[in-house]
Amino acid sequence: MDKLVITGNGPLKGEILISGAKNSALKLMVACLLTDEPLVLSRMPNLADTRFLSELLASLGVEVYWPRGENTCHLNAATLKTTIAPYEQVRKMRASFNVLGPLLAREGHATVSLPGGCAIGARPVDLHLQAFEAMGADIVIEEGYVKAAAIRGLKGAEIEFPFPSVGATEHTMLTATLAKGVTTIKNAACEPEIEDLADCLNAMGAKISGAGTSTIEIEGVSKLNGHKHLVMADRIEAGTYAMAVAATGGDVLLRDAPVEGLSAMIESLEKAGVSAMPEESGLRIQRAEGRLKPVDINTAPHPGFPTDLQAQFMALMTTADGESTIRENIFENRFMHVPELSRLGAKIQVKGNEAIVTGVDELKAAPVMATDLRASVSLVIAGLVATGTTTVSRVYHLDRGFERLEEKLEACGGKVIRETE
Ligand code: EPZ
Repeated sequence: MDKLVITGNGPLKGEILISGAKNSALKLMVACLLTDEPLVLSRMPNLADTRFLSELLASLGVEVYWPRGENTCHLNAATLKTTIAPYEQVRKMRASFNVLGPLLAREGHATVSLPGGCAIGARPVDLHLQAFEAMGADIVIEEGYVKAAAIRGLKGAEIEFPFPSVGATEHTMLTATLAKGVTTIKNAACEPEIEDLADCLNAMGAKISGAGTSTIEIEGVSKLNGHKHLVMADRIEAGTYAMAVAATGGDVLLRDAPVEGLSAMIESLEKAGVSAMPEESGLRIQRAEGRLKPVDINTAPHPGFPTDLQAQFMALMTTADGESTIRENIFENRFMHVPELSRLGAKIQVKGNEAIVTGVDELKAAPVMATDLRASVSLVIAGLVATGTTTVSRVYHLDRGFERLEEKLEACGGKVIRETE
């Protein structure tokens, strides 16, 4: 198992190229199941999660050509071998569950394991299943598997979610592209990744309007065609490096950062006293000398502050000049980084979904452990500002969502070395 050895080395300076967005790529890959023509995805992030999904797709019969280290992935689902996705595969990565709808839409039936809970919360899939039932699917849950069938095909439906769910919105949108008639999703999630997926599906011949707003309309078509799509750049990766620069000080251009998707974070960084300036080629983050100001944040569906940047912002606030309140409103258990940040000297008190962070003068190095993807990277940010050498173990969590993290930080002067334990 690998660990990262991080030595605080002062301000970060230079340029970081932002990779393709993991959370967009995972849904775009699944879109290949809707057509018998090739789907080619460029700016594909080389991550444990995307590689894992490519293996699952291959097991369903998709021809996958994606040489190691390359950022273009060719997917061809001309023929499918099976419509069953077993527990061993779905358990490892929740996004695998998204094969259910496309398989159902194309083949009329699918059997996919329920994903189960995960470290950050229970994360049920009830909204996904309700949407498919509204579209006429028969759903049975047996022995941990969802068995879905629509013998006479899916039909368009009006679906209103009780709250915006990214996954349920994307999964319903994917599935409705091949249903008969019009599907309307109300109270849809508005995340930029949903727009990216709709853009790709529309280029494949789907008829989707309103993606990126709370009402999405999908007019079903009988067939989708192949396409070559550029995956959007990762706003969470960009936000994470923005926070690293804000924490250490310095001046870094985040090349290709999707600025429009980062407005809540930019506003919070500016309140903290960090400059976040959009430029033609990306987002420039600069922090001058002096302590950061404390800033309160509330995570919320887009365009609110993203839950996927909450842990990183908390790491930033640990050395601010005063008290900040961080409220997590999306997932019920997303403060696992708190005890680990505390090992580095942070002062944080958790009450329910609220963490009160009292800034300290400095963090001090310690061995810490990664617990989930975003929690792990918050420890890397804290390690970069702590005095001494911090080791973060169990970094396989980090490898699920950050491409070449050590390399990108090292190029800007960060001392981050990967070692095998
Ligand atoms: C996506 O998860 C992302 N994952 C998450 O990123 C991200 O944190 C989340 O959206 C919110 O932005 C991917 O895109 C692969 P939701 P998703 O459905 O789709 C509840 C990361 O670190 N809910 O918007 O699963 C759910 O439990 C990951 O990259 C139901 O109750 O998120 C949660 O409390 C982690 N029933 C809330 O809704 C349902 O059927 C929002 O979840 C679906 C969701």
